[in-house]
Amino acid sequence: MKAIEAAVFSAVFCSVVSASSKVKEESRTAFFGEDVHIEVSSWTDSDVVFKPRTNRSYEVPLVWAGRVMNQNKTKLISQGYLVLKDVQEEDEGLYIIRSSSNSSMAKHLILTVRECALEKMVKYGETYIIHLDHIQGPITLAFRPSLVRVNQTVVLHTSEHPTVVLYNKTTVLGEDYVGRLSVSEKQVILHSVRMTDEGSFTVLDRDGHTKIRRCLNVRDHLRFVHLSYGENLRMKLFLHYSNLNVVYRSKQDNQDQVIVNQGVLVTPLDPQLEGRLTVEGSELVMKAIHVTDKGVFKVTDLAGFSVAHVYLDVEAYKLPPLAVAILSMVGLLAFMLLVCLLSCLYKIHKRNEKNKKLMLIAQQAGKRDGEAFRQELQTAPLLGERFVFWPLLVSSPPPSF
Ligand SMILES: *[C@@H]1O[C@H](CO)[C@@H](O)[C@H](O)[C@H]1NC(C)=O
Ligand SMILES: *[C@@H]1O[C@H](CO)[C@@H](O)[C@H](O)[C@H]1NC(C)=O
Ligand SMILES: *[C@@H]1O[C@H](CO)[C@@H](O)[C@H](O)[C@H]1NC(C)=O
Ligand SMILES: *[C@@H]1O[C@H](CO)[C@@H](O)[C@H](O)[C@H]1NC(C)=O
Ligand SMILES: *[C@@H]1O[C@H](CO)[C@@H](O)[C@H](O)[C@H]1NC(C)=O
Repeated sequence: MKAIEAAVFSAVFCSVVSASSKVKEESRTAFFGEDVHIEVSSWTDSDVVFKPRTNRSYEVPLVWAGRVMNQNKTKLISQGYLVLKDVQEEDEGLYIIRSSSNSSMAKHLILTVRECALEKMVKYGETYIIHLDHIQGPITLAFRPSLVRVNQTVVLHTSEHPTVVLYNKTTVLGEDYVGRLSVSEKQVILHSVRMTDEGSFTVLDRDGHTKIRRCLNVRDHLRFVHLSYGENLRMKLFLHYSNLNVVYRSKQDNQDQVIVNQGVLVTPLDPQLEGRLTVEGSELVMKAIHVTDKGVFKVTDLAGFSVAHVYLDVEAYKLPPLAVAILSMVGLLAFMLLVCLLSCLYKIHKRNEKNKKLMLIAQQAGKRDGEAFRQELQTAPLLGERFVFWPLLVSSPPPSF
């Protein structure tokens, strides 16, 4: 008992010591427009600086020598609290609270600002719905994207992204959304979701008041397909192939083979695929799968965002169970025939021996008496036939299927 107490005490002591030697760090998540309270213990003596998430080399003083530097953004409350008003995405980052007389007394607060309390995850190409309950229409729908693709390799999560109106009470705006977005009294439906639809959707009522804010996260599809040798692969592409790039990488050579390039089917394909692989509408078909077809299909949209990864695994050729059963029966028959043959050979051999013996006995019969000849006749014959064939057959293991 003492030992356990000592162990617990030393563990607690160690953790206390190690904690006090480090700067206290806290993470907090706030939503857009919220006020965030930061505790500043000894007020007159504290400095507060802010390092934005987007530029950590930049320091913004919020409180300096007890004075609030930006009255618009921050407010001092006498009980040792600093209030950040109406936080936005640009307020994300690290807040350092430190004593101006003793720099080793410091506290770090990492603030994350989220746009929505409600986030929905939708897979690429699927449908996103926002229900409009008790909202006075006609509505306005605004969208603020969270992602911007700069080029094939660079994706930016930007904070400077402007809000765009997708629906202005009467009309769907933006060519990207015409045909995909429909608005009724009850709901907003966005079909065939793309990665560029990631962001926040704001619904404003008839009078322009914000009523709903929802965030959409788009994820790509991950599929594992197991097929047997000779089967056909039918693969969903989630969009019409004219909106896609499809690249296939076989496990065998690890070389990327482009199948659809910026919406155009590549012809002719690699000889291994030519004639077996076709793409129609939003489906890819590969006929008569070989074991060497194992690999991965990477589907991306025209902007280079991932739509799907499909991993193909192929099982080697297997006989159907009936054929296996028939083959084992044939095997068993062949085995029994072999055993028969061996026993026959043995029998013939025995008979020859016996004949030789009989000949010898017959030759000697003249010299010896008839009694000895009769004894030989009783013991020698027929024994071989029974004892060779049957034990062999009985001791052979039963066939297994
Ligand atoms: C970060 O802030 C510093 C100081 O204001 C500035 O010189 C620099 O250009 C900024 N970097 C970026 C990437 O904005
Ligand atoms: C504070 O807000 C006022 C009025 O909106 C504006 O004129 C001023 O430039 C702002 N100050 C800072 C430091 O942002
Ligand atoms: C600064 O604070 C640390 C930790 O609280 C303390 O150990 C140290 O003595 C202080 N130094 C001064 C100069 O006050
Ligand atoms: C993508 O853009 C970044 C920054 O603008 C640049 O450094 C990079 O070289 C670009 N890559 C390509 C493939 O163009
Ligand atoms: C919505 O946009 C369309 C097309 O730009 C325009 O004709 C229509 O007047 C706008 N409606 C409202 C209510 O602003």
